[in-house]
Amino acid sequence: MREISEHILDIAQNSVVADASEITLSVLADTAKDLLTVTILDNGKGMDAAMVESVLSPFTTSRTTRKVGLGIPMFRETALTANGSFDITSAPGKGTGVTATMEISNIDRPPLGALADTMHILITSNPDIDFIIRMACDAREEVLDTREVRTVLGSVALNNPEVSAWIREALTEMNDKVFGGENI
Ligand SMILES: Nc1ncnc2c1ncn2[C@@H]1O[C@H](COP(=O)(O)OP(=O)(O)OP(=O)(O)O)[C@@H](O)[C@H]1O
Ligand SMILES: [Mg+2]
Repeated sequence: MREISEHILDIAQNSVVADASEITLSVLADTAKDLLTVTILDNGKGMDAAMVESVLSPFTTSRTTRKVGLGIPMFRETALTANGSFDITSAPGKGTGVTATMEISNIDRPPLGALADTMHILITSNPDIDFIIRMACDAREEVLDTREVRTVLGSVALNNPEVSAWIREALTEMNDKVFGGENI
């Protein structure tokens, strides 16, 4: 079983390949509704309606190295197996949004996994892309926005070692504050 953080990494990688300059990642838990919602939103090149339809099939890919694209079908399978939903909205030239929901208590729902590490890797390996990271559980909500971090950094890059360490710490703290006490 794959962890949710691994799915997020996969789907956000699609956004990177689609030339996004801004990627929003949110992981929201509503324990009263027993609902976990994961959203990956980008301003990349987008897909037309036919592509969105076919992308849910594991035989659609624009990869040239192998014929089968699995990132989206695998995340969809995870969501549906955990009695959730899966939705893609996309428009050419505008961007793409992928939303998966799952029942928090469902036995087939994978754990969140290493969310902070995953997001840290995404940010520091794509220092020219802006990331808006949102984590929320019930009333607790934390946001890290690299556009704000940049205004403080000036010309210092997001993958500068000291900045990278700070981002990792900030994300870990966010994760602990929001999800630390919950069995998610
Ligand atoms: N955010 C996105 N923006 C534009 N096109 C996308 C996006 N996400 C997916 N696609 C298109 O959908 C195809 C299928 O994506 P999917 O993640 O399922 O497989 P893949 O990325 O091709 O391969 P894999 O994820 O298995 O390495 C991609 O090749 C790409 O053409
Ligand atoms: Mg992919």
